[in-house]
Amino acid sequence: MTRILITSALPYINGVKHLGTLAGSMLPADVFGRFKRAQGFETLLLCATDEHGSPTELAALDAGQDVRTFCDEQFAIQKKASDGFNLSWDHFGRSSSAQNREMTQHFARVLWKNGHLDVRTTKQVYSNADKRFLPDRYVIGTCPHCGYDRARGDQCENCTRVLDPIDLISPRSAVSNSPDIEIRDSTHLFLKQSNFVPQLREWIDAHRAEWPPLVYSIANKWLEEGLQDRGITRDYDWGVPVPDDIADGQLKGKVFYVWFDAPIEYIGVTKEWAEANGKGNSWRDWWEGSAAKDVRYFEFMGKDNVPFHTVGFPVTIMGARPQEEWKLVDRLKGFNWLNYDGGKFSTSQKRGVFMDTALELLPADYWRYYLMANSPENSDSNFTFDHFAAVVNKDLADVLGNFVNRVTKFCVSRFDGKVPGEGCYGEDEAALCAELDARVKAYTDFLEALEFRKAMGELRAIWVAGNEYLTRAAPWTHFKTDREKAAVGVRMGLNLVHVFGHLAWPVIPTAARAIHEAIQPAPAIIPWPDRPMAEELDELEHGLVIKAPDVLFAKITDEQVAAWKERFGGAP
Ligand code: MF3
Ligand code: ZN
Repeated sequence: MTRILITSALPYINGVKHLGTLAGSMLPADVFGRFKRAQGFETLLLCATDEHGSPTELAALDAGQDVRTFCDEQFAIQKKASDGFNLSWDHFGRSSSAQNREMTQHFARVLWKNGHLDVRTTKQVYSNADKRFLPDRYVIGTCPHCGYDRARGDQCENCTRVLDPIDLISPRSAVSNSPDIEIRDSTHLFLKQSNFVPQLREWIDAHRAEWPPLVYSIANKWLEEGLQDRGITRDYDWGVPVPDDIADGQLKGKVFYVWFDAPIEYIGVTKEWAEANGKGNSWRDWWEGSAAKDVRYFEFMGKDNVPFHTVGFPVTIMGARPQEEWKLVDRLKGFNWLNYDGGKFSTSQKRGVFMDTALELLPADYWRYYLMANSPENSDSNFTFDHFAAVVNKDLADVLGNFVNRVTKFCVSRFDGKVPGEGCYGEDEAALCAELDARVKAYTDFLEALEFRKAMGELRAIWVAGNEYLTRAAPWTHFKTDREKAAVGVRMGLNLVHVFGHLAWPVIPTAARAIHEAIQPAPAIIPWPDRPMAEELDELEHGLVIKAPDVLFAKITDEQVAAWKERFGGAP
């Protein structure tokens, strides 16, 4: 049987992520992972923090902390937010781990041995005051085009022209504001990506049908524009050190560029997982050689990450051949942006809702459902509190929650809280089963196809069909005159509740468990219903004692919406 390997793009270490990052990588990875586990597949679902790079060093400097302490603290914060959203990683690791250091150095050695790395000299800005090389965007000065006096060395924010730090008038360090900077020569390793164009072309074209058009077109554009060789080392302190045995120690004291080591952490975190769980060397069977032939590998990410996953990381993997055959991604799901009230979510400007504050407002399932139902899949989508409240109140409170409460309460008050056994299913029940057979199949197929909006549309339609059935069956009307008829409606209603608990579990795991447990205890992984609905919906033992759960989803009030809008700000 196929094994399923799933990774989410690794969130940068600095700060809690906003809902856009959640919606565009971590959450869909989790929903898909739960779906595959529910279907009984052996599944490995992995994520980690992306910790290296100069932004981390400089953020730590800003916070007055050494970088390791900064990362330890930020990791704990992100882990907590991830747990709060019930993201069910088999392991949530760190790209600064010993395992990733070892894997990154390993890949660099193989690439070097295979002749895919060049040593080249480049010109870099050095700050004497800060005693360090500066990344381009940490050099600020006056824009030669528009005169803006806080232009950054990579781009002028004012006139948007792309710049080189050397272009700036009166350049200075953004770290210390010191003008005491100079241009120095520095030696770096370059990965000869241009060697890989034919192989990449073949691989990308072979996946055209499996990837969303967005992903294919980004990958294709990069190839068509011609691949530049890529500098994979930096003159900073915080990162995976370049080993001395590469290029006769010419790179001593330098580290790998964060975009070189971060995707390798997908493999690194698999090792972290194995070591944390006493799985020894079995991690390798998920990734390398013939042992990994039965693995299907899925990646989830925002569109800005696509080039690094369709070109950058694949070149690293291809460069290790023929000695080692590491897995390349099979299905790559890319997402557009989730916007906040018509503008961008912004971590630096604290604009929008972030994972930690979201959970102060409402439990995870409210957000999980909303974000999946409005996934920025085929175009950007927009978060507003009005829309959020409307969707929650309608789909979760009125349709799903109300259905479960109506039927369980009625059963408790009129049938002693036991699944009634009287009467037989008739035509109306058969029609419902036929409709749900088609809808459950569509829901399953959309999840399989990673079409999350459409999947959520089917899930909602399934809940609606249950509601409509119950309204037609109207056991409360028939109870006095035709108890048998009422019993049939209640029995079907309770079976629907049970099946809803199964179908909703990947998306809203806590509520799904509560729904399931109204009927009977639920296993840790609530399995996917794969039998015909006529069986699934005639499953509950007659006489089984059930309970009516508390309100599952509270409605969001106008006052709450008004208060949240004020607290989080509106259009920019
Ligand atoms: N940290 C990057 C971002 O948030 C994603 C890294 S994905 C990985 O955009 F491939 F590098 F791991
Ligand atoms: Zn300018």
